[in-house]
Amino acid sequence: MAQILIVDDDHQLRQSFERLLLAEGHEVRTAASGEAGIEAMRASLPEVVIMDVRMPGMSGLEAFRRMREIAPKLPVIVMTAFGTTETAIEATKMGAFDYILKPFDIPQVLKLITDALAAGRFMRGRVEVDASSASESEEALVGRSQAMQEIYKAIGRAAPTDATVLIRGESGTGKELVAKAIYQHSLRADKPFMVINCVAIPETLLESELFGYEKGAFTGASARRVGKIEQAHRGTVFLDEIGDMPLSIQAKILRLLQERHIERLGGRQPIPVDVRIIAATNRDLEKAVAEGQFREDLYYRLKVVTMRLPPLAERAGDTPLLAEYFLARYAREMHLQSPGLTPDAARYLAARPWPGNVRELANTVHKALIFNRGGPLSEAEMREAAEGQERSKAARMEVESDGRLQEWIRSELTAGEGRDAFDGLMDRFGSIIIREALTLSGGNRTRAARMLGLSRPTLLSKIDKYGLRIEAQVSAADD
Ligand SMILES: Nc1ncnc2c1ncn2[C@@H]1O[C@H](COP(=O)(O)OP(=O)(O)OP(=O)(O)O)[C@@H](O)[C@H]1O
Ligand SMILES: [Mg+2]
Repeated sequence: MAQILIVDDDHQLRQSFERLLLAEGHEVRTAASGEAGIEAMRASLPEVVIMDVRMPGMSGLEAFRRMREIAPKLPVIVMTAFGTTETAIEATKMGAFDYILKPFDIPQVLKLITDALAAGRFMRGRVEVDASSASESEEALVGRSQAMQEIYKAIGRAAPTDATVLIRGESGTGKELVAKAIYQHSLRADKPFMVINCVAIPETLLESELFGYEKGAFTGASARRVGKIEQAHRGTVFLDEIGDMPLSIQAKILRLLQERHIERLGGRQPIPVDVRIIAATNRDLEKAVAEGQFREDLYYRLKVVTMRLPPLAERAGDTPLLAEYFLARYAREMHLQSPGLTPDAARYLAARPWPGNVRELANTVHKALIFNRGGPLSEAEMREAAEGQERSKAARMEVESDGRLQEWIRSELTAGEGRDAFDGLMDRFGSIIIREALTLSGGNRTRAARMLGLSRPTLLSKIDKYGLRIEAQVSAADD
């Protein structure tokens, strides 16, 4: 749930937006002019603004400029009717998050809002590097092992330069978190951060997503479109899963790195862009180069500053620290006191292999906390959470039968008085339900959506909202 502000002089459009977004569980405010929009923003800051560029009175562009002054990182989505795309493009160049053309394609609008919310949260949230008492900070890189100390130093050295950084490491080792930390400690911290997941976007769309296109570049290109890289001008672009990027696009990225300009599809003149590139992959790039899947010249260009995130098994002593950190974080989310770990439980976690690395550890701790029967988490509880679905299914039955669930709801209600306890609880249940549907569907989101009776975009927005990530392989196999 997020606060969204709609600014449009068209009464009907405001209403239909309001209805749509309320149904999605958002809080919506509306304003009929640029002036009123700015007023509304001053009264209370929304998380996303959706604004028409063509309104009587203050122009959309002027309104956008002032909003930018009030909240430089607030994502603003600009709406435009066919024929006024130039204004929308201008707004994007001034830093608007993106623009949409009327009439709207609803799933597309919802997806854009989800992306804008994620981008806003991403830019706002601070990542503390090497926090000794991390539990109170919003997000932190936790770990005191020698291997992680080296990473902190590398972040400190690389962040304030404009150097391209390549982050490598197995799945779940924290590559995205490190990318975020580099961005936030860089000189571009107050400029946009654009995340592009090279596997999540179908190959046919990736090129136009990244580079944009000119009108008539291909069938269906009825108006010019600015790509993500151009939108991130003066900011940072995070190319996640770059090892999976198609060769044709690799060539264009290489050109961007060498010549500092891009070309829109169907465009004739190069457009200079100033972006810093951070890339990440869990692929064996050397092998990909040998097999002709990855350009050697791009590989050399990227690897100048490389950070190799060690698997959890190589971070001696960090596992219990991380477990305590996640326990504190999840407990806070549930308005509970962290129950802590017994020494046996800590030893068990430290000795166990974690093929899914930090992500798997975090999920296990989360599960254990949900089913905790009171008192510090024991080795048995941890084992139960760590070992497969069968055991956790049994535990769930127990939760229902021993009144633990009711007890938890009661504690939420008393702790959450005056806060939005209902929404908080529903979110917790929602996240459990969706996680289960994804498990049953083997990670296939289309099947999970069918199982849940949700539209696919709605499911995707919820996955995003609850931070439920799916492994890359699974998402690639989806659809
Ligand atoms: N050192 C750390 N301290 C605290 N949290 C961490 C740390 N490393 C990872 N995490 C958390 O673990 C989860 C997984 O990390 P992240 O998404 O960055 O992994 P990744 O390397 O990008 O994985 P993938 O290759 O699967 O995309 C995230 O929730 C992240 O915040
Ligand atoms: Mg990642």
